[in-house]
Amino acid sequence: MSRETVDLTGLQHAFPYPRSSTGAITDLGRLILARVKESGPISFADYMAQCLYHHELGYYARPGKPTVSKKGDFITSVSVGSVFGKLLAHRLYKFWCANGSPKTFTILEPGAHDGTLCLDILQAISNFAPEFRSAIDYLVHEPLPVRRKSLQAKLQGEASVIASPNDCHAKIGALIANEILDALPVPLYLRSNDQWHEILVTSNAGSLDWGSWPAKPDLPKNLPEGYVTEGPPELSSFMTPLARMFENALFIWIDYGLDEEALYHPARTAGTLRCYFKHKTCAHPLENPGEQDLTADVNFTAVEKFATSLDLQIHPAMNQSRYLTYCGKEWLLSNPSQKEISQFQTLIHPTQFGGRFYALEMTKGNVDPASLI
Ligand SMILES: C[S@@+](CC[C@H](N)C(=O)[O-])C[C@H]1O[C@@H](n2cnc3c(N)ncnc32)[C@H](O)[C@@H]1O
Repeated sequence: MSRETVDLTGLQHAFPYPRSSTGAITDLGRLILARVKESGPISFADYMAQCLYHHELGYYARPGKPTVSKKGDFITSVSVGSVFGKLLAHRLYKFWCANGSPKTFTILEPGAHDGTLCLDILQAISNFAPEFRSAIDYLVHEPLPVRRKSLQAKLQGEASVIASPNDCHAKIGALIANEILDALPVPLYLRSNDQWHEILVTSNAGSLDWGSWPAKPDLPKNLPEGYVTEGPPELSSFMTPLARMFENALFIWIDYGLDEEALYHPARTAGTLRCYFKHKTCAHPLENPGEQDLTADVNFTAVEKFATSLDLQIHPAMNQSRYLTYCGKEWLLSNPSQKEISQFQTLIHPTQFGGRFYALEMTKGNVDPASLI
């Protein structure tokens, strides 16, 4: 690690309790600390990967804990109720019809968490388009073994649970990814003395602490002293196999995020990294490793650039409010119940899921995108 003095004021501003405020350390924290003491500091992306995806102690490796739910730490559109799946089911049906109603249609859902969205989509399709249901081969992609086991138990053969899409091939289909891009580990950077420094996780007096070394990320240089931000996650190993497995497809990415201009705005001095614990946001990324969620806004510009390099066609992103309203045109005319209308309102409300979330569609191959507008 560089011995040069870096002004960490900006970092302390971004994370006002840079070290654990309670002194409490988790089993995962002890493991990370031992590794750092033995082999030296690690990047924040590496730390975040351990916190979320350590095979036993990571935040997502605890299927018994209600992490993503009203009883857990945060909710997603899926937790609002089955209407989200219903609206996406209509979107998929439109695409399937526009492309000749093929006899086999593969749906891949990476990061399906507890399988609720998969079951909501399949149930809706069985109800309004049984002929489409018969064509669907639904795959759920989950890298964590313990979560795959619980997905298998929940899905009961309705979908296949796969460890990797590498050996899969589909002539035509769709990918649905809700709130997965925001959960990919990101590196953190600090602007100090007119240079970028990568923020590291190191040890100090028996606790995890921050360190840094000079770095040359592809980030704007005209940002103020003490500016903290995150770089894009490593997209290639995640997106390339997903894109390769389809010859022809519709890709639907739904998440909160920004384009690069807004993400690296000079006024956004503390980046977008957040921690969630019991529905509260906190600024203690080094606290309780493995027991709180860590997430960052999606850099949609980086995702679009990478997808273009994979020969995917990008369609204009829409906020979730517009997107789901377009997806639900037929459904809204089918006399939904009051309970369903109230879920729909939550999903499209500008201060809830409607304004902060975006749906970004991409297509691959020779397909009719079945444009929503
Ligand atoms: C925030 S949760 C997803 C929430 C869920 N899609 C929903 O809408 O409720 C993130 C999930 O992605 C999974 N995951 C993480 N990295 C992944 C990867 N490279 N490929 C597929 N899934 C991944 C995690 O195990 C976790 O279950």
